[in-house]
Amino acid sequence: MTVLAVLRELRRGERRVGMVPSEIPKVTGAGLDVVVETGAGERAGFPDEAYADLDGVTVAASRREALQSAGIVVCVSPPAVKEADDLPERATLMCFLPPATNLDLIGRLRDRGITAFSFDLVPRSSRAQAMDALSSQASLAGYQGALLAAERLGRAVPMMMTAAGTIPPARVLVMGAGVAGLQAIATTRRLGAAVSAYDVRTEAAEEVRSLGATFVELALEAQKGEGGYAAEQSKEFLARQQELIADRVAQSDIVITTAAVPGRPAPRLVSTATVERMRAGSVIVDLAAASGGNCELTVDGEDVEHGAVVVIGAGDLPSQVATTASTLYARNVTNLIALVVHDGEVRPDFDDDIVAATCVTAGGVVRHAPTLQLLEGGGT
Ligand SMILES: NC(=O)c1ccc[n+]([C@@H]2O[C@H](COP(=O)([O-])OP(=O)(O)OC[C@H]3O[C@@H](n4cnc5c(N)ncnc54)[C@H](O)[C@@H]3O)[C@@H](O)[C@H]2O)c1
Repeated sequence: MTVLAVLRELRRGERRVGMVPSEIPKVTGAGLDVVVETGAGERAGFPDEAYADLDGVTVAASRREALQSAGIVVCVSPPAVKEADDLPERATLMCFLPPATNLDLIGRLRDRGITAFSFDLVPRSSRAQAMDALSSQASLAGYQGALLAAERLGRAVPMMMTAAGTIPPARVLVMGAGVAGLQAIATTRRLGAAVSAYDVRTEAAEEVRSLGATFVELALEAQKGEGGYAAEQSKEFLARQQELIADRVAQSDIVITTAAVPGRPAPRLVSTATVERMRAGSVIVDLAAASGGNCELTVDGEDVEHGAVVVIGAGDLPSQVATTASTLYARNVTNLIALVVHDGEVRPDFDDDIVAATCVTAGGVVRHAPTLQLLEGGGT
């Protein structure tokens, strides 16, 4: 019987876990046994006992024990390069694994004959949505980012009609109306803010309006890329964008930035000079902090106080809602398992477009063509 091992996350600050108790019946139903490393779910609100009580599950006292007989290994962040040697040869790995920044690890996984699936590579098709962990986590980041902004703002968010008079609602600007941005819009709207949003993709306008927010039109050409993503913008475009959006930013109490172009540094949307025009007590939450930030002042994982404005470099928001984030991630995992496990064995069908796109290494070769090119270019 193939064993699926659930590992405890080692990355600092990571609270999520790759599999939650409520999803385990689907995993065992697919013909797999489950071994959970002790403490794996603890920081996400799932103690060992919540797993141990389930049929087909063993809690292992150590990582080594959890990995011993593993045929499939599930985690959230990719293992460190040296940890790849602890994975049983020819096992299957399922986790976030951005190829461009993990070339050494991928070389090692290839050499050990590991079949590695990366949630960073799930295609943006309707059929793949159930496995789209980037989206499930981005949605939570948008929600949590909105709450963080509201909490840090030195004023109330909704319109307050009181006997002492009326206070207008806080003004929120969301930049980047993709998965995270739309959830940030929905959340700040529910809190009662007056919300406007901007995106370089014009098709985002309809989605923004459907959530009751105003779409900001700028005199700029649309920047549509492949597969629903934005295309990388030129320096000149970004300079004009910064200039055209500056008044809007300066008038906002909360600015939530989520703009990203896959595989590229985050576009710079808000300059220091514009932050200096914002009112005292205003808040910027930058969800693109981990990839360089949309605001010039952003530092990933830190709150930067610039005058009386705080710029929050919020790179790791899903971990702050680890119970929900882990539950959604585990559903993405079980849906991938349903696609590649047949009769209790991992048997990926590489003619399936989702399997082909998501698999980075298998059978001792790198299957993901752009990664192979990078590896060959780098001589690894
Ligand atoms: N399975 C599917 O069909 C599927 C799944 C997920 C997302 N999508 C679609 O893909 C799109 C983007 O998804 P995402 O949120 O993962 O993208 P993302 O995280 O790569 O980028 C976030 C947003 O930033 C925007 N952006 C980039 N540069 C910008 C700039 N200079 N100024 C303002 N905005 C800028 C992008 O257009 C995008 O909307 C959305 O339309 C989403 O609905 C489809």
